[in-house]
Amino acid sequence: MTNKKIGIVVGSFRKGSFNKTLADYIFETLENKGIEAEFVEYRNVPILEQDTEYPTPKEMSDIRNQVSKLDGLWIVSPEYNGSYPALLKNLLDWLSRPAKQFDFETPTVINSLPTTVSGAAGSTKAKFVRAQILGLLAYIRTNVMPGDGVGLQIPQEAWQTGEFILSDEQKEEINNQVNEFINFINK
Ligand SMILES: Cc1cc2nc3c(=O)[nH]c(=O)nc-3n(C[C@H](O)[C@H](O)[C@H](O)COP(=O)(O)O)c2cc1C
Repeated sequence: MTNKKIGIVVGSFRKGSFNKTLADYIFETLENKGIEAEFVEYRNVPILEQDTEYPTPKEMSDIRNQVSKLDGLWIVSPEYNGSYPALLKNLLDWLSRPAKQFDFETPTVINSLPTTVSGAAGSTKAKFVRAQILGLLAYIRTNVMPGDGVGLQIPQEAWQTGEFILSDEQKEEINNQVNEFINFINK
């Protein structure tokens, strides 16, 4: 047991989201290895507008509080036109901002926080969105795990049945990423 805690952010709110299925698998795998995992729920975070940014809305201050206690953050996202879903960008924009207005001295809650990315998508295996998110995570000064993250192709059957069953190979890729991220947060 290492007493570490990892937050998982899912980029899709779709009922039956394949990325949520993937995130559930990541959650389970982390917990099986003795790492606490929890989802970061951000559906009700308002769109960031600078006129209404302060005082910070409760939905967002609760998330800042949650994220400040994490040892790592794992983004699991679909690919929308080669990029990230708007609400995920909105969350990361909020997290990049000072908790207190004009306080640019105190590090943000995501400053230096270890991060990694996975995504389930079509034949691109989410490679474009992973690159975009990794770039964004570096820009907002998180501590991005080296590499390209892991992308899984959603199999054709999943679109018919509505269920994404990870193959053994896909599970192995995620297991490897979990091991790598645990080592990374323990460095
Ligand atoms: C606006 C929009 C744009 C999309 N663009 C892409 C894309 O660029 N690449 C891709 O692989 N899938 C794309 N898709 C399909 C998603 O990969 C697919 O809907 C997937 O199921 C979304 O993940 P979820 O099941 O977790 O919601 C797009 C879907 C939407 C709604």
